[in-house]
Amino acid sequence: MNDFKRVNGELCAEDVPLAQIAQAVGTPTYIYSQATITRHFHALDQALAGVPHTICYAVKACSNLAVLSLLGRLGSGFDLVSLGELRRVQAAGGDARKAVFSGVGKRDDEIAAALAAGVLCLNLESAGELARVERVARAMGVRAPVSLRVNPDVDPKTHKYIATGLRESKFGIAMPDARALYFQAAASDYLRVVGIDCHIGSQILEVAPFAEAIAKVLELVADLRTDGITLEHIDVGGGLGICYSDETPATPEVWGATVKSLVAGTGLHVIAEPGRVIVGNAGLLLTRVIGKKQHDDKVFVIVDAAMNDLVRPALYDAYHAIEPVAPHADRAMQTVDVVGPVCESGDFLALDRPLPDVHEGELLAVLGAGAYGMTMASNYNSRPRPAEVLVSGAQWAVVRPREALEALWQDEVVAVLGD
Ligand code: LLP
Repeated sequence: MNDFKRVNGELCAEDVPLAQIAQAVGTPTYIYSQATITRHFHALDQALAGVPHTICYAVKACSNLAVLSLLGRLGSGFDLVSLGELRRVQAAGGDARKAVFSGVGKRDDEIAAALAAGVLCLNLESAGELARVERVARAMGVRAPVSLRVNPDVDPKTHKYIATGLRESKFGIAMPDARALYFQAAASDYLRVVGIDCHIGSQILEVAPFAEAIAKVLELVADLRTDGITLEHIDVGGGLGICYSDETPATPEVWGATVKSLVAGTGLHVIAEPGRVIVGNAGLLLTRVIGKKQHDDKVFVIVDAAMNDLVRPALYDAYHAIEPVAPHADRAMQTVDVVGPVCESGDFLALDRPLPDVHEGELLAVLGAGAYGMTMASNYNSRPRPAEVLVSGAQWAVVRPREALEALWQDEVVAVLGD
């Protein structure tokens, strides 16, 4: 569900015609709907109603300060994976005490900053990391709140690059090793064991893998309790999928009911780390057709957004719906490749896609681009990253201007070195 809709055939973000934004800001531009983000956050929050819980939005999905601020004001906590994400949340006025710090390789300075900020917990991913956090906490004279991220070895049935809870993936601590590490953490004067965590992957469409993972984690929680280690929370990770084309992902309600039925009676506080399901369909990438060209029967629509702006199609073969912004009901359909100007054959937004016949100069909307769009954008081919705009009703604001060209090299130094 999203708030991009057609008014007299013309695509609008809430009540603002996209063409109006393009005229003022140019293209390519990411556009986010405040109403959609808000509704999705509430849907998840509601889905866990009845059990004590904290939604920790996964900042990596879309980290614009306006989006973080909005979610913070809605009551969200945050899932962080770097010092940069911590500082973004703080800059947006978010509450670091409602933040969990995940990630498979945290540096000492990141651990220290997270502890100084008073994060809710650090999700530890290895024995080495446990020792590192203990060392940093000792040096700071504090007790670090920690949770172990376990790897439940569950197949989330998603793209292999975004499956994280399989035995062979780099993430988490193998279940058989977790118990001994909990004992070690519980015995430390510089660690405070607060929870357990698992995140099995992203764009997961069914609830079964979540249920399987949570059930395994809860077995460990029960064993630990018998051993005298009582946890305060279970972090069930993120990963709930969205509809990009014709998928029918489990709804937040069904996901929430599954989580609640499994944790019922455990007394555990539930933390969840959703990213994509909150912002994915709340954002689109607005782009303009530069031109069209034909090789034999192959038609290319060349647009001003490229793989540096939205890498998901190139990286995961991901599908994003593409529509002309202008009314198009009466146009003939044509099968085309929608490609960017970057010098790689992998630079495409869509391949063999039936699209209404589009014209040079017109605007296209690439849908479902709110998650892992701007956050994965780069400057490849010395292309400035897109502008970002937030819309609410008839109001809109540029929440990040288009990067200036000079900004691409302003910190570079022409060092002319001898041998
Ligand atoms: N928690 C942890 C520890 C994570 O690693 C992730 C995502 C999330 C939560 C949020 O997952 P979500 O609810 O958004 O599925 N770039 C890829 C997705 C990578 C996901 C990485 N981890 C894509 O564009 O599909």
